[in-house]
Amino acid sequence: MLPRQRKRPLGLFRLVMVNGLQDSSAIRYDFRYGDVDAEHFPFATWRKLSNLSMQLDQRDLIAYGDPLGEPGLRVEIANYLYSSRGVNCSPDQIMIGAGVQYLLGVLSRLIGGANNGMAMEEPGYDGVRTIFSHHGFHIYPIPLETDGLNIRKLYESKSRIVYITPSHQFPYGMVMPLPKRMQLLKWATDQNGIIIEDDYDSEFRYVGKPIPSLQSLDTHHRTVYLGTFSKCLLPSLRIAYMVLPQELIELHGKQDYRLYDQTVSRFHQKTLELFMKNGHWEAHIRRMRNVYKEKQFTLISRIQQLMGSQVTIIGQDAGLHILLRIHNGMDEQKLIATAEEEGIRVYPVSPFWAQQAEAEKSMVQIGFGGLSKEDITEGVRALHRAWFGIG
Ligand SMILES: Cc1ncc(COP(=O)(O)O)c(C=O)c1O
Repeated sequence: MLPRQRKRPLGLFRLVMVNGLQDSSAIRYDFRYGDVDAEHFPFATWRKLSNLSMQLDQRDLIAYGDPLGEPGLRVEIANYLYSSRGVNCSPDQIMIGAGVQYLLGVLSRLIGGANNGMAMEEPGYDGVRTIFSHHGFHIYPIPLETDGLNIRKLYESKSRIVYITPSHQFPYGMVMPLPKRMQLLKWATDQNGIIIEDDYDSEFRYVGKPIPSLQSLDTHHRTVYLGTFSKCLLPSLRIAYMVLPQELIELHGKQDYRLYDQTVSRFHQKTLELFMKNGHWEAHIRRMRNVYKEKQFTLISRIQQLMGSQVTIIGQDAGLHILLRIHNGMDEQKLIATAEEEGIRVYPVSPFWAQQAEAEKSMVQIGFGGLSKEDITEGVRALHRAWFGIG
């Protein structure tokens, strides 16, 4: 059904171009994926622990640290990963770095892109695809099925390496079931391959029981496991981690990679170590899971109430974003532009496709982490106005 034509108000929220850039002060509600909730961040606790890590008995922290990251923090991460995701590793296999992209850059150099292909979910995370391309990997886009990556197509690609988001496919959000995980592990053994498992927001699962990580099921040590503190804590901290199989960690040691200095501030690492050691991390995850569950419920129920079958909601079992397919005849660009005219920012999904011709035509990405429930409600009302001329 085509949207009813309506006149746009010329006033307050019309976008202004300043030096060719859109004036974002005209945006009232920004549904940006990647923003997190600021209201529930434990600022007081973090400040106290930051101060502690600055005290005199920590004077050692003013020097360069271990290239792999603070040993104490790596112990905390290993314990957490074992209890929450079944990840089997020693702290010595963990490398801390300033974000998943940085760590994948290190991994790319370690395994070498020049003669290697990289199979990736299609669609998949463009931030990571770019890193692999920059390191010379040929990208093989592998189509998805309703339960995740098409394993037959993966075999056909002849790639020996795959990057994958099995616990919450980015961006569609499906969770790869256990039997398919076992098939993927068999693929890795058959191909003498490597699986790069990005478990970027495994903390936020709202429906069903969590499925063990691939790394925990992998008896042949073919999996590199990655996680980040950007979703559950703060993206501005820039702390992520990578768990390397023994073979790769040994290669890392041999190939002078230990000369790469650590990229994360030792003070932030120490603060996080204390945060985890003293039980704040577990409490924070529990709290944030409820906070985000409620925000997501608000978002989905408002969309359903107002837009019903005029839209399709995708990826609501986990994470901090959903995808919305809008059945009003507008394409991605028009959906974003009309939303902006109402003071709302939503985001394109087409960059997630390596093959642009395959991209969804009438879909946007909606992140809800950084908005309050009230903002979400108002934002959805304005989107309804923008896309269906009602409200
Ligand atoms: C699939 C996926 N992995 C990793 C990240 C980012 O992690 P970091 O902030 O540690 O680089 C994102 C961020 O949006 C993501 O979507």
